[in-house]
Amino acid sequence: MSTSHAQVLLDRNRTIAPISPLLFGGFAEHMGRCVYEGIYDPKSSLADERGFRKDVMEALRDQAYTVIRYPGGNFLSGYNWLDGVGPKEQRPRRRELAWQSLETNQFGTNEFMEFCTTINAAPMLAVNMGTGTIQSAADLVEYCNVAHGTHWSDLRVRHGFREPHNVRYWCVGNEMDGPWQIGHLDAVAYGNKALEAAKMMKWQDPTIKTVLCGSSGDKMPTYPEWDRTALEIAWEHMDYLSMHYYAGNPEGDTASYLASSVLFERFVDTLEGTLRYVKARQRSKHNVYLSWDEWQVWYKGDPVQGNWTEAPHLGEEIYNLEDALVVAQWLNVFLRKSHVLKIACVAQIVNVLSWLHTRPDGILKHPSYYVFKLVSNLARGEALDVHVQAPEVKTKQYDAVPALDVSASYDVETQRGAVFLVNRNQAEAVVADLVWQDGQSVQVDKAWQLTGKDPKEVNSWDAPERVVAKAIPVPTVVADRATLNLPPLSFTVLSTCAG
Ligand code: AHR
Repeated sequence: MSTSHAQVLLDRNRTIAPISPLLFGGFAEHMGRCVYEGIYDPKSSLADERGFRKDVMEALRDQAYTVIRYPGGNFLSGYNWLDGVGPKEQRPRRRELAWQSLETNQFGTNEFMEFCTTINAAPMLAVNMGTGTIQSAADLVEYCNVAHGTHWSDLRVRHGFREPHNVRYWCVGNEMDGPWQIGHLDAVAYGNKALEAAKMMKWQDPTIKTVLCGSSGDKMPTYPEWDRTALEIAWEHMDYLSMHYYAGNPEGDTASYLASSVLFERFVDTLEGTLRYVKARQRSKHNVYLSWDEWQVWYKGDPVQGNWTEAPHLGEEIYNLEDALVVAQWLNVFLRKSHVLKIACVAQIVNVLSWLHTRPDGILKHPSYYVFKLVSNLARGEALDVHVQAPEVKTKQYDAVPALDVSASYDVETQRGAVFLVNRNQAEAVVADLVWQDGQSVQVDKAWQLTGKDPKEVNSWDAPERVVAKAIPVPTVVADRATLNLPPLSFTVLSTCAG
């Protein structure tokens, strides 16, 4: 195997911005087996007394999710939240049109709140802007966040939840730019409806933060005009603009796929420009940030229509090594764009488009599980502006890109740092010299690596640990430098402390 050399320059005073904890969020939709058989499976021998799968809860806690977005997704735009609250035996069974499935409503808003408490994550609720009205959106805020003494808050108390849920983050609709969306609107109609909904929602609770639907991806014909138009209408009442994007390698062009961070950065850059433009045009002092509240790999063609059955197998992609390396780059981009990107939710947290799959006797973790877990547990404090000098890799889609994709964090309070390095080269190892330029003492105290020979390598029920992150010997820092071997197709993580 051939080898080339790179330099990674780190300076703990050269910071980008504080890393928002909400970048390590997830998304749970009533789709396929995410909620039923994923989170909630009362008939399972692995469920607790509330019906939550204990093994799933443990895996979610291990990933240190900070926020979970719910209940959809395309499901949201046909959902009446009243169907999912109150006595379970009285909840309606309905045909669910977005995924052509059967919805039993045995899991709803209050169960979701208990679930969030169980995994120590904040709830992020979405209100229906498809079949839903601005009134039903405001009513849900009252149901969740008002203490008691009013129609909807008292209903919550009667449902057994004395204390308000105090939900802070609220998505105003889902992918309303998409013709596939139930009740799809054009940008002006959506902007106006979202504005009126957000006004009423914030009158119910002025402490909430609202998320405006942005484009459902950079390939939408209305991108980025949709974002500009909707923002210009609703700017003062919104705190975040939502981004969605699903990556894939349908043409088997692994070199380009492994350069996906270029596309992710462009997407953020364009929308950051749009935010700045609208703020200037509005002569506003208010800031709106980005919420990348659906991101994941999705292209392998697993069914997405449920044939009117309960908990059908939908979108159960098997993720391989190259997918995990794309996830690692996504997380690197989140850190590098932390000045404008404040929320991110992987779609989804279990079974559907997820690196976690259940069957009755256990769970299987795909390679990207290990990537996310390392970054979400280690990236703290400020993101660092890392300078990388690396050899280039040629790609069809993005021309030449650096072989290394890197991000780093440093927490001044704990004096702990982390460095995250992807070697996207498929055949060549890179020997990287890491140089800490700030003159403060540093040691690497732990190191992990996830790698494999074949980008298509997967974990399976028979071989569940083929591609996992393994602890590797820690490189010694001598005179502010450490040397690290980065095999082809690898993700390497270092955690550092004061020397
Ligand atoms: O996560 C699956 C689906 O992808 C969501 O329901 C929708 O918002 C997006 O198109």
